[in-house]
Amino acid sequence: VGTVRLAVIPGDGIGPEVVDEALKVLDAATAGSDVRFEPTRFSLGAARFLETGDVLTDDDLESIKRHDAILLGAVGGVPGDPRLAGANIERGLLLRLRFDLDHYVNLRPSVLYPGVASPLSNPGEVDFVVVREGTEGPYVGNGGAIRVGTPAEVANEVSVNTAFGVERVVRYAFALANARRRRRLTLVHKTNVLVFAGSLWKRQVDAVAAEYPDVEVDYLHVDAATIFLVTDPARFDVIVTDNLFGDILTDLAGAISGGIGLAASGNINPDGRFPSMFEPVHGSAPDIAGKGIADPTAAILSIALLLDHLGHADAATAVRTAVTADIAARGEVRRSTAEVGDAIAARIAAH
Ligand code: NAD
Ligand code: IPM
Ligand code: MN
Repeated sequence: VGTVRLAVIPGDGIGPEVVDEALKVLDAATAGSDVRFEPTRFSLGAARFLETGDVLTDDDLESIKRHDAILLGAVGGVPGDPRLAGANIERGLLLRLRFDLDHYVNLRPSVLYPGVASPLSNPGEVDFVVVREGTEGPYVGNGGAIRVGTPAEVANEVSVNTAFGVERVVRYAFALANARRRRRLTLVHKTNVLVFAGSLWKRQVDAVAAEYPDVEVDYLHVDAATIFLVTDPARFDVIVTDNLFGDILTDLAGAISGGIGLAASGNINPDGRFPSMFEPVHGSAPDIAGKGIADPTAAILSIALLLDHLGHADAATAVRTAVTADIAARGEVRRSTAEVGDAIAARIAAH
């Protein structure tokens, strides 16, 4: 029996609520199999900061690194909470984990499950994955401001794009498109305005494309991509894009495929040097926290990505099959977070 050491970061708001259900489903999916998950909980996030003043200590990070994978709920307090001013949990915790654990692939699939109401009247078949670069772009914190608070203030936020960083994520996207998808790859950028980064991305895609003659390659400016995501999402298979465009497009992708409560993600270190981290795309949702009504499906589908990543394809399929059936059976009655988790776990157990 193999043991997987799983670092669990429930976080803030609805994070702990959805993580409980995800762990329930993980138990059901691995019961009686030859793999056992051993969770270690880390108390991190806005709540921890308010208690101790720590966001993520070096000790926390070293300890997390000694795990095989990470499950994260959501972190972040109520936007605008004055007690959190200066803490920047998102940068100091979430982004620090993505950067220090070299999560250069942020994998965000979008599937419109049968029975789910899309806000689009005629969405067609929605089944695409955004391969969002995870360690570069405007997210790196390469910026600064001068004359702050004066009418002459200047604030810079530099987007960092390296040949090394762009090539590796583009290679991942092509390999995924070729081996596991419908062999259609769309680069999304803004090459008409962001000419330096755009040119680098375009050349990296063209170079790798030559090695994948069976993959059809397409390019869209990010503004046009938002049109097609709404008017014709079925045209997309694999989208590869930078960190910020990927962030924005995947909230839109979540919305068109039935809501952010269904959108799962994996922050992957494909080299396996560091643990990969799985989390719903949504945040801590302070507006519904504590009410027991958050949809845990995104966190549960993140478990399927975790199982896939660790090579437990059968267990991952069991989770997706149970989620698909549960979604199809969802009626008008709104169930609690725990009821959804229980129902999905029960479907897996019954199989
Ligand atoms: P959010 O995703 O938390 O919420 C946006 C809206 O979606 C809210 O109306 C919320 O109620 C709803 N929603 C989100 N998840 C849901 C679920 N599972 N079921 C039902 N409804 C759901 O985004 P926000 O309000 O912009 O951010 C809140 C906090 O979370 C901020 O501090 C933000 O920085 C942080 N955040 C964290 C992460 C993360 O940890 N990965 C991601 C995004 C935002
Ligand atoms: C996400 C979130 C994060 C991001 C924030 C909270 C730093 O929006 O995971 O999509 O921008 O990547
Ligand atoms: Mn986001």
